[in-house]
Amino acid sequence: MTLHAPQFDLARILRDTSVQHVEYHSSLSSTSTVAAELLGPLLGRAPAVVLADEQTAGRGRKGNVWWSSGGALTFSLVLNANEVPMAAERRPLIALAAGLAVRTVLADIAPEFAFFVKWPNDVLTGAQKICGILVEQQTANDQQGLIIGIGINVNNSLREAPAEVSQRATSLFDLCGQSFELTAVLIRVLQQLDLRITQFVNQPRLALSEVNRVSLLSGRTVTVLSGDATISGHCIGIDEDGQLVLQTEQGLIRCSTGIV
Ligand code: BTN
Repeated sequence: MTLHAPQFDLARILRDTSVQHVEYHSSLSSTSTVAAELLGPLLGRAPAVVLADEQTAGRGRKGNVWWSSGGALTFSLVLNANEVPMAAERRPLIALAAGLAVRTVLADIAPEFAFFVKWPNDVLTGAQKICGILVEQQTANDQQGLIIGIGINVNNSLREAPAEVSQRATSLFDLCGQSFELTAVLIRVLQQLDLRITQFVNQPRLALSEVNRVSLLSGRTVTVLSGDATISGHCIGIDEDGQLVLQTEQGLIRCSTGIV
């Protein structure tokens, strides 16, 4: 039997963040799928993290596949929704809080690059995606859970990816030509997530102004596929409910979800 040494220092994660439990697997289907399957017990130990060195069936928004290879940071944070006092219509802000958290950490690690939050749930540098975020709400034993799935291309190289992925994505390794300690990156992201979610709950205006400062779409002409509708307009910014606000020929239109 080959023993697999964890790529992560789990004791340090528990010591340096508010996380109470880490469910670590060297390989699993998807950290968010496993988080949903184990939601009842994980909510009993929340905040909890499901963490994997490798996912075999990573999921993105709208049923998309999330491609990643060894060296990527893939995890899902499980929170008790009662501990995030935010009206249901404002929950899209959680994905933006996560985007802001990841952007802050990436900008600290690689200050020579400009990173942006792309509504509703990505982090990009230039036109290339470096992080995807998937926020899901699920119930177990009458308790509501929030599952915040985050995939950051850290030490993997997109050169190994299928062409359709490598053309529009990058990693810290591809940008900087060096590897980073995954435990340290994860701890910084978890700490920032804590801060940003708290900021959105307690100081929503400040948090929103930070998101709008680093929003990729603001000031641009964009086309959003929202349900069956295709909406084109000049992006004015993101509003207090996390909606993208577009100035169109028909007036102001607010998109609560969509693909840009
Ligand atoms: C997207 O870009 O549409 C969202 C991608 C989210 C990927 C992360 S990786 C960790 C977690 N587990 C998953 O299967 N998906 C999320």
